[in-house]
This record gives sequence, C-alpha cells and structure tokens, in this order.
Amino acid sequence: MSEVNKLGKATLKFDGKTIELPVFEGSEHEKAIDIRRLRKETGLITYDPGFVNTGSCQSEITYIDGEKGILRYRGYDINDLAEKCEFVEVAYLLVHGKLPGKKQHQIFSTHLNSHSMLHEDMRHFFDNYPDHAHPMATLSAMAVSLSSFYPELETSKKENIDIRVTRLLSKMRAAAAFSYKKSIGHPIVQPRHDLSYCENFLNMMFRTPVNGYEPDPVCVRALNKLLILHADHEQNCSASVVKMVGSSDANLYASISAGICALWGPLHGGANQHVIEMLERILKKDRGNVKKVIERAKDKNDSFRLMGVGHRVYKSYDPRAKVAKQMCTDVLDQMGVKDPLVDLAQELEEAVLADDYFKSRSLYPNIDFYTGLTYRAMGIPTNMFTVMFAIGRIPGWIAQWLEMKEDPDGRIGRPRQVYTGPTKRKVS
Ligand code: CMC
Repeated sequence: MSEVNKLGKATLKFDGKTIELPVFEGSEHEKAIDIRRLRKETGLITYDPGFVNTGSCQSEITYIDGEKGILRYRGYDINDLAEKCEFVEVAYLLVHGKLPGKKQHQIFSTHLNSHSMLHEDMRHFFDNYPDHAHPMATLSAMAVSLSSFYPELETSKKENIDIRVTRLLSKMRAAAAFSYKKSIGHPIVQPRHDLSYCENFLNMMFRTPVNGYEPDPVCVRALNKLLILHADHEQNCSASVVKMVGSSDANLYASISAGICALWGPLHGGANQHVIEMLERILKKDRGNVKKVIERAKDKNDSFRLMGVGHRVYKSYDPRAKVAKQMCTDVLDQMGVKDPLVDLAQELEEAVLADDYFKSRSLYPNIDFYTGLTYRAMGIPTNMFTVMFAIGRIPGWIAQWLEMKEDPDGRIGRPRQVYTGPTKRKVS
C-alpha cells in the first residue's frame, strides 16, 4: 500500500474532553479523518447510514471524482481503456495493477481457455432449475458451488491468482450462457478455444444445433466495451459485500457469490433490467407520455423512481453513461436496428436534464440507462442484463477482495449501531 500524505489533526470536543484525530490525504487529494481511536478514547461512535461519509479502506485500484465525472482504473481513464483495450486486458490490469504485455496476455488467454468448461456435475445443476429461474439466482449459486469443486483455491494468497481469476471469469461466462439456453429449452453450447472471450460468450448464447453462428464483430467490440465499463467501481454496494464476506475469511467464491446477490438489486446493477421494463411500460401503458412519468418520479407520495437515473457518487454525468450512450447509437446504426425505446430513452433523458427537480439534486443518467438498449440490440434477453454486469464486475470484485486480504489494517467488517429498542424488561 502506498504511503498517505499526513495533513495534521482535526480536533473534536465533546463532554469536556478534547481529542485530536489524524487527517490524511490520498494521491488525488481526497481528505479523510482517521477515527480508529474515537470510541476507545471518547465512548462515541459515528452514525452514517448508507456509509455516505465513511471510508472503509485505502485503495489503489479505482479512482472516481463524482463532481467532475472522472473514472480511472489503476490510473487509466475509462474512455481510454474502453477505446483501446479488450476486456481481458482490463481484467488483468485490475487484478495485477498493470496492463499485460503480449506474452502475459497470451498466457492469460490460454488460462481462460483451459478453465472454460464447467464441471459436468455442475452442468447437471441446470437440469433441476425451473425454466423461469432468474439467471442471477443461478449465477450466484454457481459461483459459490465453485468452492466445492475447487476447494484447493480457498487460499487468500496471491499464488495461482491467474488460475483463480480465469476460472471465475470463464466458468461464470459459461454458467450465464447455459442458464439462458436452459430458459429457452435449447441444448447448451460448449466454449471453444479458437474464439476470444467475448466471441465465445456470444457463440455459447446464440449457436444452435440447426443454425451456425458467426459472432458479429460489431457485437464483439460492443461487448468488450460494455464489460470494461462494468469492470470496477471502487467501494460500491456489491464490492463492499464481497469484502465484508471475505473479511470473515470466507473463500473467494463465497464472497463473489454474495456480491452477485447484492448486484441483483434494482438500486444497483439490477437497474439495467428495470430501465428496459420501465421504458416498455411507458411506451405501452402510458402511450409514451414522458411528462406523466417525470411527474410520478418527483411525487414524494409515490415510491416510483426513474430507473437508470441518479448515483451516490456522481453529481455530474456518469462517465460510463457517456460512453454507453454513444456506443448504443453506434451499435444500432451499424446493425441497422431501429428501436422505439431508444428514442423514448433520449426523450426521457432530455426531460430529466431540463427539469429543476433533477437539476437541483444533481441527478443524471447513470451507466444502466443506455447499456440495456445495446444488449437488447445484440439479442441478449432483458433478464440477462444484470448477469452481463456481473460478468464484467468479476475482475473488480477479485481485485478489491485481494487488496483487502493484503491490507495490513484489514480486520473483520463489523459496524456498530445505536440501540433504540426497549430497555431491560422481564417476561411476565
Ligand atoms: N428518481 C427520482 N428521484 C430520485 C432518483 C430517481 N432515480 N434518485 C434519487 N432521487 C432523489 C431522492 O428522492 C432524493 O430526493 P430528496 O432529496 O428530495 O429526498 C435525492 O434524489 C437523493 O437521493 P438518495 O436516494 O438520497 O440518493 P442515494 O445516493 O441514496 O441513492 C441511487 C442513489 C442510485 C440508489 C438512487 O439515485 C436511485 O434509486 N436511482 C435509481 C436506481 C438506479 O438507477 N440504480 C443504478 C445506480 S448506477 C449502477 C451501480 O453502480 O449500481
């Protein structure tokens, strides 16, 4: 871990006591008060629901400036990475801290191929899931099942990390495609060594015994970009869950499985599915009446929120959404696809950007606003969108988990509370 810059002390006075708490800053000048001695010396704890002001760690992986709309992995700007890299290179970057050279890329790709098949017994799991099973439920179950099939990997050390990473990346990709095939009653398609990571996924999704399939280079490029946009986002809900589970010394697969469940929620990665369902409802039920939907989203007596809008950290346009929006237009143009939901999404975005309610709260479209429209154009079904997010996020979760394991300040995650229930009483 790099050294932090010490900035002096903050003074806290309470109940006749004064304590000095160290203040430090990170490499991008984010400042923090170190409160580790607070309870011991004052009896006070901090109260911060949703961890809005709480820094849980120091990290060298991902940098976000939510005010300026900046996102960087290991110092590289998200636009640069999305433009010039393949997803597997970015996965390597997140885990190892540097982009792979030609030889490292080759070795990483060989590992991805060698570990791409699912154990036959795991494949049989799919026979017993109902056809309507949500693929996120299946994916989470498959992730934790890997710990039964590969128990030797329950170490927290960095040794064999490429094998662990590539096993997870490859096998989760296969599990995702198999769950789709199962849901439509088609036989599964096995991965192939002659195809790249993204080509393989598309082939497993769309090849059938009666129809050949050639992955469209437009879709392959788009998928690489989309997975890169999803690859990490520092201490978000699912990454924090992965680390919280890992902090108890649970294995990597169990931790990732928990992260997949956290991502599933509609306020997090599940929003991409809900955006499309919302747009479909507006088109069909509200006859495209954007004004009505905006009024509902602003009404404090209505629990409805615009999906794909707003973010805890970004108080300007989400830089991932910028790339996703441009890509959506490009992909649909290149594929010659016309989708009325795209026009509706653009109309809705314009209405959001012009409205005082959203402006005053700094609410902008987030990554999930446009990604689903691109997945849809590629033929990926709506209930698979959050699975796509999960596949992209796996390298980020692993990188965050590994960093936590190697953190000399690391301890089991265990927040405190302020109890407000009944005081001591007796059963009468
Ligand atoms: N529609 C209408 N109002 C909203 C929305 C929205 N989508 N998002 C936030 N607000 C309002 C909220 O009602 C509150 O208003 P007020 O100050 O009057 O009480 C204010 O904006 C601040 O919202 P908050 O709920 O305190 O913000 P948060 O940081 O706790 O929540 C969020 C962030 C992403 C959960 C929230 O913006 C939201 O629910 N968005 C819709 C779901 C969504 O798109 N999630 C995907 C996030 S990006 C992918 C990822 O990384 O997870």
